[in-house]
Amino acid sequence: MEQYAIKGGNPLVGEVEIGGAKNAALAILAAAIMTDETVRVENVPDVRDTNVLLQAMESIGVIVDRIDRHTVRMNAANIHSLVVEDDFIKKIRASYYFLGALLGKYRKAEVVLPGGCDIGCRAIDQHIKGFKALGAEVNIAHGLISAEAERLSGSHIYFDVVTVGGTINVMMAAALAEGQTIIENAAKEPHVVDVANFLNSMGANIKGAGTDVIRVKGVPKLHKTEYAIIPDQIEAGTFMFAAAATKGDVTVKNVIPKHLESISAKLLEMGCEVEESDDAVRVVAAKRLTHTQVKTLPYPGFPTDMQPQIAVTLGLSEGTSIVRESIFENRFKYVDELTRMGANIQVEGNTAIIDGVKKYTGASITAPDLRAGAALVMAGLAAEGITIIDEIRYIERGYEDFPQKLQSLGAQIEKVSTEKELQKFRLKVG
Ligand code: EPZ
Repeated sequence: MEQYAIKGGNPLVGEVEIGGAKNAALAILAAAIMTDETVRVENVPDVRDTNVLLQAMESIGVIVDRIDRHTVRMNAANIHSLVVEDDFIKKIRASYYFLGALLGKYRKAEVVLPGGCDIGCRAIDQHIKGFKALGAEVNIAHGLISAEAERLSGSHIYFDVVTVGGTINVMMAAALAEGQTIIENAAKEPHVVDVANFLNSMGANIKGAGTDVIRVKGVPKLHKTEYAIIPDQIEAGTFMFAAAATKGDVTVKNVIPKHLESISAKLLEMGCEVEESDDAVRVVAAKRLTHTQVKTLPYPGFPTDMQPQIAVTLGLSEGTSIVRESIFENRFKYVDELTRMGANIQVEGNTAIIDGVKKYTGASITAPDLRAGAALVMAGLAAEGITIIDEIRYIERGYEDFPQKLQSLGAQIEKVSTEKELQKFRLKVG
């Protein structure tokens, strides 16, 4: 079994390049099938989720040409199946984007019900509500969700909850519907804007992405484009908090500082120095950090995908901190693992009460999901002694070259797959 072996204690110091946004890439790659012309996308992160998505696209007849590690050219003129049920795709949440993309283009789609990280009930009722409002009939049977429409007509949709996936999915289908669609209470995340920009570069007419109200004027068809995905806000945030937790000094490069404001604000409150420049943010944690309160919220609030990373950092900060999770109800599963490393955290419902300890100690632990897994790596880097992390496949879903990037900042971390390699690591780090 593959594991990360970590010897903690080194502050992270140096510069790290951030890759393309995974959650933007997943939607953009799926949306690329909405034209018969060739689409070229740059800055695609080479992570498991994007690779699974591209594989599923190939399984329905999309020609996928990898020009280099981060550039993909796709042509979807010869799609031969509107049923996406490749064995791997059911494991990723973003499979739902094929519904919006195929429904828009072909008025019909059938997709395996989405999986993804187990972080709570992950309903898709709002996606369904949106597709129905556009005139589609939607059914769930035998583990598949199908949507079909003779005509897709613009509509006025008010989301009951702010949903990133729902907003993007309905926006995609509406891009090729007849007439105008208005999406109210839309998600405002940077990747929603990136997908809208991508669709517009293909000839769609979408206005208001990044605000609560998105207006989509349907067009008859979309055309070729070349597009580069925005930097990953969460990968950047993870390295920023890793700098804080290890009392380091890290410059995250190739970022959009505006997208990181809620993250920078919390680091400042906790006592870090944060310096912003055009496309980089430097985080310096020279002394022990202090407690704070945080509640996860849709953008521009503090992201749920950064909740485990801030909690791991607050676990080492002076005083009592409160972390409230308001998006997903099951996102504290890492707390048991962190407790094994010496953290003092009580979870009551959607709230974690964290009494900061002076240090964590290395332990054998398991990554429960993607972001929690990354946060546990951070805990291992800050801890005294050796930490072994199982189930790193979760982390590889969303972080490209995570151990290598951390090594370049001075971390002692290695991916090991046998007991012998683990022994070698132990001998090496002493
Ligand atoms: C996206 O998930 C991301 N996944 C998640 O990233 C991220 O945590 C989440 O947005 C919130 O930012 C992808 O982009 C593939 P939502 P998504 O729809 O679209 C409820 C990561 O670590 N809801 O915004 O599934 C839902 O239960 C992952 O990279 C409904 O009730 O999130 C949740 O409470 C994990 N009905 C809330 O809305 C619906 O139809 C927000 O979910 C849809 C959602």
